Amino acid sequence: MQHFAQISDPHLSSLEGVRARDLLSKRALGYLSWSRRRRFEHRPEVLAALRRDLDRFELDQLLVTGDLTHVGLPLEFRQALAWLQELGTPTEVAVIPGNHDASVPTPWQDTFALWRDYMASDGPTATPDSLTTLYPSLRVRGDIAFIGLSTACPKPPFMATGTVGPEQLARLPALLDSTAARGLFRVVYLHHSLLPGKDTWRKRLTDAAQVQQVLTRHGAELVLNGHGHRGHYDELATAQGMAPVIAVPSASALGLHGGNTAGYNCYSVERCDEGWELAIGMRNYRTGSDDFVAGESKRINLRREPR
Ligand SMILES: [Fe+2]
Repeated sequence: MQHFAQISDPHLSSLEGVRARDLLSKRALGYLSWSRRRRFEHRPEVLAALRRDLDRFELDQLLVTGDLTHVGLPLEFRQALAWLQELGTPTEVAVIPGNHDASVPTPWQDTFALWRDYMASDGPTATPDSLTTLYPSLRVRGDIAFIGLSTACPKPPFMATGTVGPEQLARLPALLDSTAARGLFRVVYLHHSLLPGKDTWRKRLTDAAQVQQVLTRHGAELVLNGHGHRGHYDELATAQGMAPVIAVPSASALGLHGGNTAGYNCYSVERCDEGWELAIGMRNYRTGSDDFVAGESKRINLRREPR
């Protein structure tokens, strides 16, 4: 049996000392949002409680599904790298970026290059110089194939949309087919939801229909996302059977503005006669006692044809 967890949208960085007038227009808007709201909503003490809680579990992999920063400044990438190093090694922790991390175009070496080992696939890879050369990523842990997609790319001010793009979409089918042929449980994880209506127009995945079409045709066993700061459970019918589509709340939120209080999910996967048994356990932050406790749990039998 394999165990893994998903945390998302920690928005862990601090913009203390940054001056709004030094920032480009979209970053200046993001700075104002941080200064007025986000720094009160996304709290380091919640992330400290999260770290304590994660220590309770033996995980084969920890997925971090984007928006580690607020406006994607190099200093935020450095803060996020230090936080990732506290969570675990690059072999233990897998990161995909979110829209906040790619707020505006930035020099690769000062930003995403710092997270490279945490975003990379298994084994030696060519030195990446863009998110589209890094993704889709593939990590295999026991019976599980973790397939990461990047939806992060700079968008105009006021837009929080994401796009997977044609390069990743072209490589995804072969990755899904080859991991299925190896009999692996395929976890596809991305920042934005691929389901229509989960995010507003301003926050949507622009090529959700194309991503969904690839997954419907080539199959997956589980699809995970963040971005909306709300947990939800849905199901996607694929040619090979049903795949749960699950979103988690922000890992650091106090829920001051109507969103969920911080939470994350733990998953266990075990092969069974019919296919796979998937167990989902939610962990929810309790403000009063400053800790995470068990929330709802669910067991799902995923029927798959034997190969
Ligand atoms: Fe996001």
